Amino acid sequence: MLRIENVSKTFNPGTVNEKKALDHLSLHLLPGDFATIVGSNGAGKSTMFNAIAGTFLADEGTILLGGEDITFRPEHIRSRTIGRLFQDPLMGTAPHMTIEENLAVAYLRASGRSSVFSRISRKDRAFFRDQLSLLDMGLEDRMSQPVGLLSGGQRQALTLLMATVVTPRILLLDEHTAALDPATAAKVLELTRTIVAERSITCLMVTHNMHQALEMGNRTIMMNAGRIVLDVAGTEREGMTVEDLLRRFAAGAGKAFDNDRILLSTEEGI
Ligand SMILES: Nc1ncnc2c1ncn2[C@@H]1O[C@H](COP(=O)(O)OP(=O)(O)OP(=O)(O)O)[C@@H](O)[C@H]1O
Ligand SMILES: [Mg+2]
Repeated sequence: MLRIENVSKTFNPGTVNEKKALDHLSLHLLPGDFATIVGSNGAGKSTMFNAIAGTFLADEGTILLGGEDITFRPEHIRSRTIGRLFQDPLMGTAPHMTIEENLAVAYLRASGRSSVFSRISRKDRAFFRDQLSLLDMGLEDRMSQPVGLLSGGQRQALTLLMATVVTPRILLLDEHTAALDPATAAKVLELTRTIVAERSITCLMVTHNMHQALEMGNRTIMMNAGRIVLDVAGTEREGMTVEDLLRRFAAGAGKAFDNDRILLSTEEGI
């Protein structure tokens, strides 16, 4: 579904701030693959998402999504088939627009109907209501309220719904529960698990929680210095402990794992 081949990205080339954020990175995801990603600080995880989403063009390499070469495709075109969530719940929704309007914009854009003549039908509205009720947060009864009134967790759940209201070719989750309180984070994570599994969505999820990295999805990827240093799935992944993961990282990266946030959050749960 996703084929990243030999992609590199250097920021501020030729200056003292030169930084090779992606270093000949390659990654292949099969349809329905759900890979979690962990890595040291500045490993290039968000940069890889930016490269996939088209926030910038890669310096070299190619990116194929659903068999199509999207290497040079602009971000706004890619966003029709790529769902993306960030750590900050304020990103991804428009605060002054209502819940229904936000969903409508996401729906029309992803279904290629985003012309000024497009309208939301009664059927669409019933569909939104159904979708919202799945979140179990009472949002289906607040469809005409502005999104700015929602809590961070409600907003993140809504963003998840918007990103998947039309099944995306890939869903990119960049520590999307990190800014939420533990109970809300657990709920949004559970929703993520359900939505991704029910629709077999191909998904990449950056997390700073090692337990999550082993327990969510079917594949765990570790990044360091713009490269993938570990990629485990199947029987190799089953039964792996956080300690195993840290050991394997050290062997692959040639150094100990050094992400403070990860090392401080190795407890179970969120
Ligand atoms: N727009 C940019 N301009 C300059 N440097 C950048 C830019 N974006 C990222 N970088 C640099 O590229 C490197 C990789 O950054 P990236 O944000 O991808 O790391 P990350 O793995 O997501 O880290 P974190 O776990 O802290 O979120 C870092 O050294 C970062 O400072
Ligand atoms: Mg990041």
